[in-house]
Amino acid sequence: MASRLYDWLDSRLKLKPIERTLLDEPIPGGASWVYVFGSVTLFLFVLQAVTGMFLAVYYAPTPDHAYDSVRFIETQVAFGGFVRGLHHWGASGMVVAIGLHMLQVFLYGAYKPPRELMWMVGVVLFLLVMAFAFTGYLLPWDQTAYWATQVGINMVGTVPLVGEFLVRVLRGGETLGALTLSRFFAIHVLFLPALTVACIALHLFILRRVGPAGPWSEDRAALGSETFYPRQVYMDAVAMLGVFLMIAALALTVPFPLTDKANPSDTSFVPVPEWYFLFYYELLKYVHGPLEPVATWILPTLFVLVLLLWPFIDRNPARHPSSRPVAIGTGAVFLVVVFSLLGISLKNLYAVPRVDPAIAHGKEIYAKYGCSGCHRIHGEGGAVGPDLSYVGDLRPEREWHLRHFRDPQSVSPGSIMPKFPLTEQELNDLTSYMLSLKRQT
Ligand code: HEC
Repeated sequence: MASRLYDWLDSRLKLKPIERTLLDEPIPGGASWVYVFGSVTLFLFVLQAVTGMFLAVYYAPTPDHAYDSVRFIETQVAFGGFVRGLHHWGASGMVVAIGLHMLQVFLYGAYKPPRELMWMVGVVLFLLVMAFAFTGYLLPWDQTAYWATQVGINMVGTVPLVGEFLVRVLRGGETLGALTLSRFFAIHVLFLPALTVACIALHLFILRRVGPAGPWSEDRAALGSETFYPRQVYMDAVAMLGVFLMIAALALTVPFPLTDKANPSDTSFVPVPEWYFLFYYELLKYVHGPLEPVATWILPTLFVLVLLLWPFIDRNPARHPSSRPVAIGTGAVFLVVVFSLLGISLKNLYAVPRVDPAIAHGKEIYAKYGCSGCHRIHGEGGAVGPDLSYVGDLRPEREWHLRHFRDPQSVSPGSIMPKFPLTEQELNDLTSYMLSLKRQT
């Protein structure tokens, strides 16, 4: 039945030659699991495109509605949370897959002549993935999205001469707002996908013209080649299925809740970027003053240029890693630096904050005496007295608090705040807690 249908189609569309070019591509040295990363990356791109289309059905790219539309997808739409999860973890998966793909190509010296152009188009694809990540991050329009994008745009602003122009192009206006959001949305769902599809086509076209590089050892390559179908197709398919199952499992089990809706006036919010930008976030912490441009644009620009032109920088014709100490060493140093920074950053983020016992005790006293009946801290509590969210900044002196707690009216005549029967210890600890209520810096 299937073969009759195939014959019918073949007699009209002449499928045989296409089938041959698609499936009979010879792979020097034979099929291998190390070649699956390119296909996996392509698969994830398709997954992102499909889940993105479904998200776009409900998503509204305006500051008034973006946040609520994402919340609606998450809580009301059938499978909405799952599809958003797939899109979120798919993005992470894409960064990992393209990273591994590039690592494999680097290790195998597969960028060497005649495959320089394929490498360069690949680097452009990597940059496109980063652009997808950056523009997609803003779309939920929550606090993290808003302030992380603000940081990114400010970095672009430090580029000399063209910085201000680039910022205006990215932001669309004087501040991060409605124009920025619709701009990022258009870039994310129209410009970048179109560019990416074109670059993938070019990447694969070049691959078909020059053929796969195969193993680094001449001896293994000399063993003969094997066609793409069936073994490599099978390995690619298994890898894709495995990756899909992993991403689906993450989407079902690991939530990534929205933070509060973006509030442009709350400049105290400290955003944390996605894990794949964390190493960079860590690097930015170490540079200040005159060194700042090094991290904000000099290093990234140099990195992109070196990556793009790498096949011309590394002129060593050998492909075996043991004959390429400089190239392999450079790559290794780069990875060690990136992963060390990532490690430090993760450690700082997830370190159990060591709470001062005095502050913890002060917090208990605050709860015990029902201070929240009159005071609000980060949105919680009554509004009879002043908001205490940042009282440590407003009233930084310990003495003031001690005097105020002992006798509120002596400090604020006519105050309705009651005098509490506090021991000396309690007085001190409650004050320590008050002083700890500060904006993060
Ligand atoms: C009956 C309501 C009420 C309760 C209960 C109350 N306060 Fe107050 N609090 C006030 C009012 C009103 C003020 C403003 C006048 C003043 O400074 O005394 C104030 C001021 C303060 C201030 C100074 C804030 C500023 O910005 O000047 C601090 C600190 C404070 N309260 C802490 C506490 C703590 C801690 C508790 C619980 C042990 C508490 N309050 C219980 C009503 C209350």
